[in-house]
Amino acid sequence: MTNSEYHKSDLSSIPPRTVLTLCLGNICRSPIAEGLLRAHIEKAGLNITVDSAGTSAYHVGEAPDPRSIEVMSRHGYHIGQQRSRQLTPKDFQKFDLILAMDQSNMKNALKITQREHSSRIVALYLGESREVPDPYYGGPNGFEEVYRMIDQAALDWVSLWAESAT
Ligand code: 4NP
Repeated sequence: MTNSEYHKSDLSSIPPRTVLTLCLGNICRSPIAEGLLRAHIEKAGLNITVDSAGTSAYHVGEAPDPRSIEVMSRHGYHIGQQRSRQLTPKDFQKFDLILAMDQSNMKNALKITQREHSSRIVALYLGESREVPDPYYGGPNGFEEVYRMIDQAALDWVSLWAESAT
């Protein structure tokens, strides 16, 4: 199967081979989602590559926000080696599935795709119309809340993919 054959109807029937998590800065939410998806995918014994990106270039080259590193470390995960990068049109060829943290990330991602890539899957990470709130300007409690939301959804995605892989 080539990437171009992976369509929305496959969301629950075929596990993706490559997944990109997406937020605005690629320093708070999507690095947590990348770390948790990767950990749960590995535990489930699936072979899915995960990466993350931001729609902006604000923090390109930077490590995740110290508050994201801290909340992940408290739960036993290490993401300090990740570096922020900006989403590019090539990502729509490279990734089977792009999971956006909020509607604005999704809208901005779709702006840089070409028409022929419009059927590629860009979905909300929490599904339906639920969003992971941006914790950047909030206090440290926001990061724990965001961690919990992202972790639950990571477990849900991985069990969906594990079911469809069997
Ligand atoms: P993220 O959070 O999109 O979850 O990485 C943000 C990080 C930085 C900024 C906004 C959101 N910023 O405006 O610099």
